[in-house]
Amino acid sequence: MKILLKDIDKYLNEKVTLEGWVFNIRSSGSIYFLQFRDGTGEIQAVVSKKDVDEKTWQETKKLTIESSVKITGKVYQEKRSPSGYEMLVENLKVYQIAQEYPIGKKSHGVDFLMDYRHLWIRSQRQRAILKIRDEVVFSIRFFMRENGFVLTDSPILTPTACEGTTTLFETNYFGEKAYLSQSGQLYLEALIYSFGRVYDFGPTFRAEKSKTRRHLTEFWMMDAEAAFVDHEENMKIQEELVCYIVEEVLKNRKKELEILKRDLEPLKKVKPPFYKITYDEAIELLKKKGVKIKWGDDFGGDEETIISKSFDKPVFIEKYPAHIKAFYMKPDLKNPKYVLNDDLLAPEGYGEIIGGSQRIDDLKTLEEKIKEFKLPKKEYQWYLDLRRYGSVPHSGFGLGLERTVAWLCGLPHIRESIPFPRLINRIRP
Ligand code: 4AD
Ligand code: MG
Repeated sequence: MKILLKDIDKYLNEKVTLEGWVFNIRSSGSIYFLQFRDGTGEIQAVVSKKDVDEKTWQETKKLTIESSVKITGKVYQEKRSPSGYEMLVENLKVYQIAQEYPIGKKSHGVDFLMDYRHLWIRSQRQRAILKIRDEVVFSIRFFMRENGFVLTDSPILTPTACEGTTTLFETNYFGEKAYLSQSGQLYLEALIYSFGRVYDFGPTFRAEKSKTRRHLTEFWMMDAEAAFVDHEENMKIQEELVCYIVEEVLKNRKKELEILKRDLEPLKKVKPPFYKITYDEAIELLKKKGVKIKWGDDFGGDEETIISKSFDKPVFIEKYPAHIKAFYMKPDLKNPKYVLNDDLLAPEGYGEIIGGSQRIDDLKTLEEKIKEFKLPKKEYQWYLDLRRYGSVPHSGFGLGLERTVAWLCGLPHIRESIPFPRLINRIRP
């Protein structure tokens, strides 16, 4: 019977068929030890000359690393094998004998591995990271549904900017200028009037000139938007979401975290309440640490690292000066120089994983902001309509998937957190 390795426990001491790849080979003349994976698990397959027919033996001798095969035999538990399981092969059929595999055991430079990303993703480490990515996505979707958010999708091709105009990817839309979406937020703001609470989850784009360990030009964002939620409640939802994601990853991805040698202690500390400081307090903290910064400056990666390392749990930085943040953020009525926004910084130096805010819900204020930010008013008429027909206080946030995965996996660079990363200097493979 053909089975998947994820189900092997149900078939111990039975004869089964597996299909997959040989990722390591060791031979002692009359016995071959094959390390085999099928994508759902791994097993050691033992081919012994005395137990197989001549055809299987000849095929086995031809095997190279990454050759694809079908193997049949009895499976059992074997503590001494690397995977804990072993198959005594009775029959082996080759799908393809792989050519000499370019990725070996010796260490390769990052550029080499990135050029071979299409093969590098087969490695145990890359598989562990992408399994955790899958876990993060599913935990987010589950949490959102449990909390009354409906999954709605936002367009990728848009006529306007959501975030700053400096990072827009321009494209030609049948003779008209269009841009790849930076965030689905503005569209979600329309959808709250039908559903109350909504989210989207998809690719977003930023023509980021920055070459840092945190920036991709194409990344996945989960935008959430909720009616009748203010700045404080917005942060509460973010805190609960992040705690839930961490909990699920710790519970369901133990093996993968172990492969990555992730220190679990900092992750186990991710429990409410998170720290909360204002932008002004963050400026003071940075000055105390010797950073040359003045009020009104935005934080870059270096500043985020310093702030993030000062706390042993995620930290919210709230209430930034209005002029360094997006046009749609609601001014703090107590001091309109500031807006009711938050950036959530992951600990251990990882920095911002979420950006959120309460939105302007008053027509006049929003019209003034659009003017002040020199945005084309005509293009935002539909967005202004949302303040004309049943406007409500509302808030939302966007969580960057790859930044979250990079933090949870303890990665030195964001490029490993997505199957095929797009960076300022890379669009291939
Ligand atoms: O802080 P940002 O720019 O917020 C927005 O786009 C809002 N419209 C979201 C909202 O309120 N619905 O981006 C949100 C998150 C960041 O916190 C970060 O995690 C991620 O998206 N992000 C990036 N991730 C990888 N590479 C980049 N270049 C990123 N830019 C933002
Ligand atoms: Mg941000």
